[in-house]
Amino acid sequence: MADKFRVALSGDFRKPDGSPTYPDFDLAPLRDAPGVEMAFLESQSPIRGEQLEDFDALILLAHRFGKESVPKSGRLAVVARFGVGYDTVDVPACTDAGIALVITPDGVRRPVAVSIITFMLALTGKLMAKDRLTREAASGFARRSDYMGVGLVGRTLGALGIGNIGAEAFRLAKPFDMNFIAHDPYADRKVAEELGIELVSLEDLFRRADVLSVSCPLTPETRHIVNAERLALMKPTAYLINTARGPIVDQKALTKVLQEGRIAGAGLDVLEQEPPDPNDPILKLDNVILAPHALCWTDQCFAGNGAADVRAVLDVQHGREPRGVVNRAVLASDDWRRRLDDYRARFAH
Ligand SMILES: NC(=O)c1ccc[n+]([C@@H]2O[C@H](COP(=O)([O-])OP(=O)(O)OC[C@H]3O[C@@H](n4cnc5c(N)ncnc54)[C@H](O)[C@@H]3O)[C@@H](O)[C@H]2O)c1
Repeated sequence: MADKFRVALSGDFRKPDGSPTYPDFDLAPLRDAPGVEMAFLESQSPIRGEQLEDFDALILLAHRFGKESVPKSGRLAVVARFGVGYDTVDVPACTDAGIALVITPDGVRRPVAVSIITFMLALTGKLMAKDRLTREAASGFARRSDYMGVGLVGRTLGALGIGNIGAEAFRLAKPFDMNFIAHDPYADRKVAEELGIELVSLEDLFRRADVLSVSCPLTPETRHIVNAERLALMKPTAYLINTARGPIVDQKALTKVLQEGRIAGAGLDVLEQEPPDPNDPILKLDNVILAPHALCWTDQCFAGNGAADVRAVLDVQHGREPRGVVNRAVLASDDWRRRLDDYRARFAH
């Protein structure tokens, strides 16, 4: 029996010169953990199964983990994604092989919620326009009264989705004295009640929100859920924010309402095509604030994702169920329980 708990890091955690891609990801707690041996894989995407034969855990950045990545040895117990998106991972392949897939909601919750608040404050405060005015000096100052901002007290903040991130955005917005509404067919009603969020129909969300933030996952049900018909329900003074996934919003329809000034503006961290076509008309609009799917990227976000992955991996090593498991069916299998018992016997003392 192997005596160490061996943890692989995907090759993209290191730059070609060997330095760390994200130095904020503190590897010391993993490197120093008793009984653990860590190693970087050679950069390969998708990862090949042969690379993982002798590992118990994989911490995965952006490389793909497909069917071909499942090692034959049966030793790999957990794949821990750095972040919460897992479109790069073949989940059924993991489940079939009894591998738990872990994501890091604890790492992204606050940083993405802060992005939503950043967009809300920048849009309603007309920050980008005022920045441009100032750079024009006298002629810009002369036009500043044309750019009156929008106060938030008593205005309505709406969310499409109040999961991990959506609910946190409301927590952060508490001191602004706004009304809170949300549409989420699977909402945790206790959370809504605790935060004072009124749950409303999809149409009412679009009709009533002064600031409408999208925080649901991209699914067949939510693809283009923000479409021309629903955008037409929004107030001409309202702002749309999307920090979730680009294709949730029909971007052509959004571009049109923004061009025609039928809503006040938008803040988009995500686009339907990333990176966008340089000729995409949305890039020309000055009532939109854009970010390259990275507004939440901070030292703390990356440290948080890393810490959550390390915690998940060390939990498995100690025979404990990790947090943030996507394919929970794996946890119910006898095979998984036997594996955890074995790890506990070897490492939990
Ligand atoms: N911009 C970024 O860098 C970044 C980073 C992390 C996450 N995200 C994205 O943010 C989104 C939210 O992440 P999360 O961690 O809060 O996820 P989550 O799963 O915790 O919450 C999603 C919520 O959306 C709800 N939902 C599902 N279908 C819905 C529907 N049809 N209408 C309304 N609500 C619906 C769910 O019930 C859940 O409450 C995801 O799309 C995720 O990919 C973006």
